[in-house]
Amino acid sequence: MRLFGVVITCLILSACNNTDTTQTTSGKSNIGTSASASASASASASLGKEAELETSDSWLSPLGSVPEYSQRPGDAQRGREALFNESYVNCGIPERVFRQLQTSFQTSNDLPFSTNRVIGKTGIPVVSSNCLSCHGTSLFGELVIGLGNEFADFTQNPSALVERAGALVQGAQEVAEWERFADRIAAIAPYIQMETVGVNPAKNLTFALIAHRDVDTHEWLPEARLPLPSTQPPPISVPPWWRMSKKHALFNLAEAREDHARMMLAASMLCADSIAELDNIDQYAPDIRAYLSSLEPPAYPFAIDTALADQGQVEYERLCADCHGSHAGGLPYPNRLIAIEDIKTDPEVMLSSTDERGKRYADWFNQSWFGQRSLAAPALGYIAPPLDGIWATAPYLHNGSVPTLAALLEPKTRPTVWRHLVTDTNDPESYNTQDLGWRHERLQAGSYDLNDTRVYDTNRLGYANSGHTMGQELSPEQRLALLEYLKTL
Ligand code: HEC
Ligand code: HEC
Repeated sequence: MRLFGVVITCLILSACNNTDTTQTTSGKSNIGTSASASASASASASLGKEAELETSDSWLSPLGSVPEYSQRPGDAQRGREALFNESYVNCGIPERVFRQLQTSFQTSNDLPFSTNRVIGKTGIPVVSSNCLSCHGTSLFGELVIGLGNEFADFTQNPSALVERAGALVQGAQEVAEWERFADRIAAIAPYIQMETVGVNPAKNLTFALIAHRDVDTHEWLPEARLPLPSTQPPPISVPPWWRMSKKHALFNLAEAREDHARMMLAASMLCADSIAELDNIDQYAPDIRAYLSSLEPPAYPFAIDTALADQGQVEYERLCADCHGSHAGGLPYPNRLIAIEDIKTDPEVMLSSTDERGKRYADWFNQSWFGQRSLAAPALGYIAPPLDGIWATAPYLHNGSVPTLAALLEPKTRPTVWRHLVTDTNDPESYNTQDLGWRHERLQAGSYDLNDTRVYDTNRLGYANSGHTMGQELSPEQRLALLEYLKTL
């Protein structure tokens, strides 16, 4: 990763790798265990009887096959330009201040790929965070648009860095731009702080913003009107954009139904303060969606033993294609939502979206401008995603709890506690071509530094690496062949 990419995400979305900050890491020892009981039972367990009565399942999506919804047409080329130039996030750090901070961090004058230069409300340029702060990674020397940033650091309190920018603003316009941005960051900061680098708080972030938005006018409410989400955001590993052309509904719970373009504009909730602003962004949103749907995964850049891969394909068709789709002319991608009781992976992401609070956020969404075209309806299970380009998207499962494909397919070898060793995704040595994933080390549970944010502890609430045991019955030879095949997808 390029350092300046880190600096900006730092400033704008709290993802911060440098040690030159004063945040404390208190709260890092909040270790809990994930619920393993049946989803609907545990969803209401913590809420008591009353909530149980209130939470009817009728608003949820059914499990099984996700229906296809027609999408507004768009122009992919225009979408690409919009992604890097438009002001779908129109608050940020005044450009002058941003550049001043940038020079104190490093030498390049270019703005990082994860930022857009946009005109703020007061008419001066501000540097805002674009979609690539979470959806782009520089991989072996090339920017891969749509590859989730699995090393973004959301473990620090973002407000401290915003304060740092605040010390440099001058004049009424800069002050006004900064205040607008700082207010929102301060409001959401407690709800977006993760335990470990790489995992993403976007969903909790959206919930926190919903709590601060008027459902009719979309204006910013300094006082939250809905209950705020958990201060322990469930971890999410960002899915790659190149799955978009196959998926009928977005997100891990396949809750983003109907119009995908509008659904994606949830990312504009930080700054868009009126329906007019949202309508404006919505004009080019179908272009962005068309661009995302045109993306292809990066090809595996190391050697592949094709004879072995052919053997692995047989295992894949036998054990995996039912849920993930065939890549060889067999069953097309089936868009299947698998019940939590069957897949048995960590339930927290699902629970936080389907419990009483989750229902309130979905109700807000569906009653708002967003709901005029799209629908939020999560299910009590996870989607089996398409596996295109799966070699590149480690770590695995919706919460990024399993560091390699080899460990995913042999559950007893999954590390309970592991630590990221990678500091540079441009270095091919950072990638483990045997196990397929980024280099990491296995640690002893309970014997590591709780302040080390590069540690992934699967005992934490939401971070469990359980479930998805498909593949455990394979012989070592069959597993090796299957791994070889997965490199080709
Ligand atoms: C703060 C990080 C962050 C930012 C910024 C962000 N996203 Fe995402 N995005 C996520 C996460 C996390 C998910 C997965 C959410 C889930 O499954 O619950 C996601 C999911 C998606 C998906 C669905 C992918 C799939 O396979 O289901 C699309 C499409 C998407 N984002 C588009 C965008 C666009 C377009 C923007 C900019 C306008 C954007 N995102 C900005 C974090 C982010
Ligand atoms: C019964 C349906 C089902 C079968 C069969 C199945 N999977 Fe999955 N798979 C899922 C679901 C559901 C998820 C998402 C679980 C989660 O993230 O919590 C998933 C997730 C994955 C992921 C992680 C994707 C990511 O983005 O991190 C990989 C890799 C994967 N499966 C590979 C396989 C392979 C290889 C096989 C065959 C040995 C297989 N699966 C068989 C349902 C299935």
